[in-house]
Amino acid sequence: MIIGIESSCDESAVALFDEKIGVIFEKISSQVKLHAEYGGVVPELASREHVKNFVPLLKDLKNFGISGAKLIAVTKEPGLPGCLNIGLAVARALAIILHLPVREINHLRGHLFSPFIPVHSQDPQSFFSNLEEYLPHLGLLVSGGNTVLYEISENLTIATIAETQDDAAGEAFDKGARLLGLPYPGGNLIEKLASSGNKKKYQFPRAFSNKSDMKFSFSGLKTSLRYFLEKFEGSFVLHINDICASYQEAIVDTLVIKVSHALEKHPCKSIGISGGVSNNETLRKRMLTLATKSNKKLVLPLRYHTTDNAAMIAFAAYIGDNFSSGYHR
Ligand code: KG4
Repeated sequence: MIIGIESSCDESAVALFDEKIGVIFEKISSQVKLHAEYGGVVPELASREHVKNFVPLLKDLKNFGISGAKLIAVTKEPGLPGCLNIGLAVARALAIILHLPVREINHLRGHLFSPFIPVHSQDPQSFFSNLEEYLPHLGLLVSGGNTVLYEISENLTIATIAETQDDAAGEAFDKGARLLGLPYPGGNLIEKLASSGNKKKYQFPRAFSNKSDMKFSFSGLKTSLRYFLEKFEGSFVLHINDICASYQEAIVDTLVIKVSHALEKHPCKSIGISGGVSNNETLRKRMLTLATKSNKKLVLPLRYHTTDNAAMIAFAAYIGDNFSSGYHR
């Protein structure tokens, strides 16, 4: 069993992963409501909240039972330095008390492998041999701070295929929402309003939509929304559903177009999405259409594993451990 600890941004989380079953315990303490007041995460506030939140989380973990744990996996980077340090301190303190080793895990690696958590829990015993049906894999990580398309090779090495030059897809949702007068974080609200809007009503740019440009960019999209809204002189609220639908379509299009370009150059057996924006139903449907058309498997994370969580950190440690020991071959 592996204990997972996550604290990279505004979620404090603990989890327990059992290689024979899957995730057997997990709890997340989210600070989203606290930061909503400021329109984004306030690093100093986030660090202080982690200090408070880990106490009850660790009590719950202890009450669940951790006697079978062999390893502590903790998020090392990227993230807010103060927040990361609290998770690392928690992990090291636990390690001293429980006499366990600590493995530091890259947060993005955690997200990237999160769609494989349900694959593991379907058949834990054969997970590593089944994994061969999914590799190579193209994984699109879309969160509030990152937009990266990765390739996971047959021997589980990770290569970056495309990444954002400026804003992340989640930032495009959040900054767009702010311009529209919607609260932070804006992604799910834009999605809600978009559901009864016309996605073809307005045209927003899709940056780097050529095959030769293997990169993402979303800052121009946000700027185009700003200029677009100025023309309405405050009356845009009357058209908010169509604006949200058209804006969301531009973000989803930008992402899916790039994955389809990557598929031409990088033959793979499966595609997947992860991170907060992978909650978006339009993106999920478009990825399913792309996977079906190109005859690839599609792997999706459980919705509660799209946001920051400790289960994905423990799971990434499990994959790394077994792979480096050659377990699956
Ligand atoms: O993975 P995550 O927690 O990000 C980081 O901590 O970096 O995801 C948060 C991001 C926010 O930008 C939020 O607006 C976006 O995910 N998000 C969504 C949806 N739900 C969350 N974006 C689009 N549609 C959604 N349904």
